[in-house]
Amino acid sequence: MVKGKDFISILDLGKKDIEDIFTLSGEFKHGKKKNFFPLSGKFFALIFEKPSTRTRVSFEVAIGGLGGGSIYLGPGDIQFGRREPVKDIARVMERYVHGIVARTFSHKHLLELAGAASVPVINGLTDLFHPCQVMGDLFTILEKKKNLKGLKIAFIGDGNNVANSWIAASTKLPFHLSIAAPEGYEPKAELVKKAKVKVTNSPEEAAKDADVLYTDVWVSMGQEEERKERLKRFKYFQIDKHILKLAKKDVLVMHCLPAHRGEEISDGVIEGKHSVVFDQAENRLHVQKAILTKIGTVPDFLRVRR
Ligand code: CP
Ligand code: NVA
Repeated sequence: MVKGKDFISILDLGKKDIEDIFTLSGEFKHGKKKNFFPLSGKFFALIFEKPSTRTRVSFEVAIGGLGGGSIYLGPGDIQFGRREPVKDIARVMERYVHGIVARTFSHKHLLELAGAASVPVINGLTDLFHPCQVMGDLFTILEKKKNLKGLKIAFIGDGNNVANSWIAASTKLPFHLSIAAPEGYEPKAELVKKAKVKVTNSPEEAAKDADVLYTDVWVSMGQEEERKERLKRFKYFQIDKHILKLAKKDVLVMHCLPAHRGEEISDGVIEGKHSVVFDQAENRLHVQKAILTKIGTVPDFLRVRR
């Protein structure tokens, strides 16, 4: 992670970056960074093509907490490639703000934005990755289990953006990853090839002796038209008490939220004693403060090319 540069995927991070982010996150969480305002006088645009509760609020609070200001542009405000070309949005934004957090439908649009803007662009979720989520999740696991080494993390559900970010993380950190998805909904083959992830169509196989059971929605934002078909195909991919019994006794149950009880997770399990979903949600804030601190901003003479 280079100062003033983008954060698009966990694949971009070095081992030291990841360690620094976790150390800093702990310092933020435990109040060791008082009167620390590295973003003082700096502004960030949050450009979101899809709805958001956690990502938006945790970024706005993180940026404000670090002394900066944020401007939220929701679905319908800036329409990548429809109202105007992505590269034009980038070259306008860099003249106003010192960084951008973007949530886009298309990962290609995020890459285009990052390529054209002189200010850092942070991925707030695309159809391919959700890196800030998984960095927060890893920090949560570290808090609870102290070490990632040798842990079995089982992702049960859709091989989509969150699962893809787990695969990216598995190429950098010493845990074992198993992903169970219905046939045709497995994570991207070219990503799987890069990692040592076990992909199966059996939720039971993935859950067996797992230290962490993780899931995500069956119908992601933008896939609403596929809802009927997906509900059928994912029917047996729910984290419920039967799956929970197969995992280790001290298993952590995780979900990026929003959760659909009765679909990817049962009410009993998400409300049960193994669930750490709200610690996960909280940790988005601390981890994003760390990411923002590591990235920082670029000096004005580099920000606006004349
Ligand atoms: N987990 C997550 O990113 O939540 P939001 O979609 O509410 O931001
Ligand atoms: N896979 C989900 C994640 C939400 C945080 C989606 O893209 O809608």
